[in-house]
Amino acid sequence: GWRETQRIRLDVNNVFGPNGLTPAELEAEAARAAEAIAAVQSRREALGWPLLPEQDVTPFEQFAAAHRDRIDTFVVLGIGGSALGNIAVQTAINGPFYNLLPREQRGWPRLLVLDNSDPELNAGALRMLDLRRTMFNVISKSGTTAETMASFLYFRQALVEAVGEEKLGDHIVLTTDPSSGFLRQIGQREGWTMFDLPPKVGGRFSVLTSVGLLSAAMTGVNLRELLAGAAYGGELAANPDPLRNPAALGALVNYLCFRKGKPIVVMMPYANRLRDVADWFAQLWAESLGKAIDRQGKPARVGQTPVKALGATDQHSQVQLYMEGPYDKLINFIAVEQYAEEAPIPTAYEDLEGVSYLGGHTMAELIQAEQQATAIALSEAGQPNMTHIFPEINAFTLGQFLMLMEMQTAIAGELYDINAFDQPGVEAGKINTYALLGRRGFEDRRAAIAARAQA
Ligand code: PA5
Repeated sequence: GWRETQRIRLDVNNVFGPNGLTPAELEAEAARAAEAIAAVQSRREALGWPLLPEQDVTPFEQFAAAHRDRIDTFVVLGIGGSALGNIAVQTAINGPFYNLLPREQRGWPRLLVLDNSDPELNAGALRMLDLRRTMFNVISKSGTTAETMASFLYFRQALVEAVGEEKLGDHIVLTTDPSSGFLRQIGQREGWTMFDLPPKVGGRFSVLTSVGLLSAAMTGVNLRELLAGAAYGGELAANPDPLRNPAALGALVNYLCFRKGKPIVVMMPYANRLRDVADWFAQLWAESLGKAIDRQGKPARVGQTPVKALGATDQHSQVQLYMEGPYDKLINFIAVEQYAEEAPIPTAYEDLEGVSYLGGHTMAELIQAEQQATAIALSEAGQPNMTHIFPEINAFTLGQFLMLMEMQTAIAGELYDINAFDQPGVEAGKINTYALLGRRGFEDRRAAIAARAQA
């Protein structure tokens, strides 16, 4: 049926070669990969995110329908897992120029994701926005993250001045844990609309919760197709045969490459619409798998460094290194079989052979040829690479890819035997920030940092 025509395929032929893997190495680890699949499947309930495709999206659709007309800009205040998925879904479905289109063409509000406490970013946004026609979605699972809470306080005050304290509830909606955290307390005190974040689902796995779905609904994304795609990705990732399971195969290739001295993984979509998906993947992969200890508490020091690249653009920058630099990388391409636009290349200057060969082709053909040409060249240079093939970029394939990558991450966590779902390294930075800004309860840390500065 239609679902099969929209299946994302993973082509791993180019991972085999002198500096890459051998089929025997892959097969030797297949039994462990099968165990990893089973382990992840047995934890579906406990992890929470594998079940997200089954949720009811009506509340998001209703909220969006009720507010779209009085809102020009929907602003997300969040960071990390509470922002990257929002950006990825937005550009993948609505394209890079969505915010610049006239409202009649968009039909839905613009989306701005302010995921930094950069003062110029926040002040600049404030100067640009008409606050009377803006809604802020403050997203924080913990309800304590300094960057997000600072942005919230900043725009809250601006709203008080622009629309008045009694109207704040028309302009602020919160997404946070259903019971804990300061954001929950504030929302309860103020009586604002709040969307719950399933407590089990960690930040970087939360794109398909209220974190990602509310802003997606507000910008006209078809949530039902997104989740149908995620459900399908979940089915593909449940296949017990690792060589027929794209999530497990991807995990296995990455894991083996890491073990064979390739600590870098490049994610390189050949589509501007997927550029921010590569950014989302970078967080997922880095924060989940970059771990100091294994599950027995023994030293591990594992994790690949994800690099984001964009084809064909980065063929003219990073690809030189990928071709001739160290054999320390696995390159992941994302190819698109059918772009939404072809962009025919007109014929002109037919006497100039360096230009005339382009005429009559399409930009779709050109970028596809570039992707294939680069994959071949890298293989010939002994640089292993693999290609995720999207039949099209749409809500179904996007949801599918998001779930496949989450499953691939969980399976890789099993192969490394680390906890893919904690982030002690991120927490350490948060705690130091609290200490430096004088938050109550962090006095000891503050003293330790001061002592360090004097040493
Ligand atoms: O993936 C993660 O856990 C982190 O990137 C968090 O999403 C990020 O730190 C923001 O946390 P919170 O949503 O609690 O504000």
